[in-house]
Amino acid sequence: MAQLSPVRDSFLVFGSPQILDDEIDEVVASMRSGWLGTGPKVARFEEDFRRYRGAPHAVAVNSCTAAMHLSLLAAGIGPGDEVITSALTFCSTVNVIIHAGATPVLADVDPLTMNIDAEDVERRITPRTKAILPVHFAGRPCDMEKLMAIAERHGLLVIEDCAHAIETEYHGQPAGTFGDFGCFSFYVTKNLATGEGGMVLAKNESDANEIKVRALHGMTRDAWKRYSDEGFRHYSVVSLGFKYNMMDLQAAIGLHQLERIEENWRTREDCWSYFQENLADTGLILPIAPEANTRHAYHLYTVLVDEERTGVERDQFLNAMTAQNIGVGVHYLSIPEHPYYQETFGWRPEEYPIATNIGRKTVSLPLSAKLEQRDRDDVVEAVHRILRG
Ligand SMILES: Cc1ncc(COP(=O)(O)O)c(C=O)c1O
Repeated sequence: MAQLSPVRDSFLVFGSPQILDDEIDEVVASMRSGWLGTGPKVARFEEDFRRYRGAPHAVAVNSCTAAMHLSLLAAGIGPGDEVITSALTFCSTVNVIIHAGATPVLADVDPLTMNIDAEDVERRITPRTKAILPVHFAGRPCDMEKLMAIAERHGLLVIEDCAHAIETEYHGQPAGTFGDFGCFSFYVTKNLATGEGGMVLAKNESDANEIKVRALHGMTRDAWKRYSDEGFRHYSVVSLGFKYNMMDLQAAIGLHQLERIEENWRTREDCWSYFQENLADTGLILPIAPEANTRHAYHLYTVLVDEERTGVERDQFLNAMTAQNIGVGVHYLSIPEHPYYQETFGWRPEEYPIATNIGRKTVSLPLSAKLEQRDRDDVVEAVHRILRG
């Protein structure tokens, strides 16, 4: 490919979060107060998020990975159990199943929605299957009607990976409230960013309590208050816990990001539609429109680069976009492409042909509430230059 001059001088960072004065001031106030760790702001953030999604219980943790790990443990999943998840996801979705001592089983995805294929899930159920862990990919809801029906038929738990799906809804119901647990990420690139951070929505109070306790070393609930002005409280260690708690510094950011969640969703929806219109003539395979009666969270805008249509191979396209000063991502190389899983479980990419094909062709273009019209134009112009060039 010919070397083209970049469309812009400065690099457009992929997934860079929108941080405004409200959260900066709140973090500064936390620092001045001296209360940096888990405290009252985490409790407020949990309550605000719980209300936003209309869930019975919410527990803040320090990542979605922690949220999923603790959910699996609270569900009593362990050695001898199998959990079915998507072949097209981030590695942590699979790793947490292994950390819980259970065996991950992959199902392939639908070629258009890129979400877990419910029929393939059902084919892979065995007497050892205990749970389904669907991922609402890019913010598009999975077919929850089919998945919940399968779970009910086979007596399985459902733990939803909502890392991309904070604002997602399916038939009017928020993602993360279908299953026994919904797990959210507030990592820097996510629709709500606290740097690192996560949340579990739980159906049952006892599960929420267990997660709360195990997220802070297994110490009795409210152990974080032991240094408060209510007087020192002795705590007891009641289970084997982890250091998975969220800090007030993180919640300080989250509280204000949550206030803008709907406004930022509209901004990203607008950007998503702009790309749909302005990239239609490029030969890239664009995402399908959101399904009727669903709400897409517009977390990722992923296109497929098919060399036969564009004359450009995917990795060439990634490099050319970077040379154009546009940051890009890959979500994801399919799970069975990674050596660790191949060596440990004997998985082969050809057994998951759709996830594998997507993983080899996919590119995520920048999509964030921070993008200005000029940035959107630069993305579109860069793609046109590369595919014309
Ligand atoms: C689909 C999916 N699941 C899980 C995670 C893990 O989230 P966290 O980084 O908050 O642990 C991510 C994060 O990128 C993700 O994209």
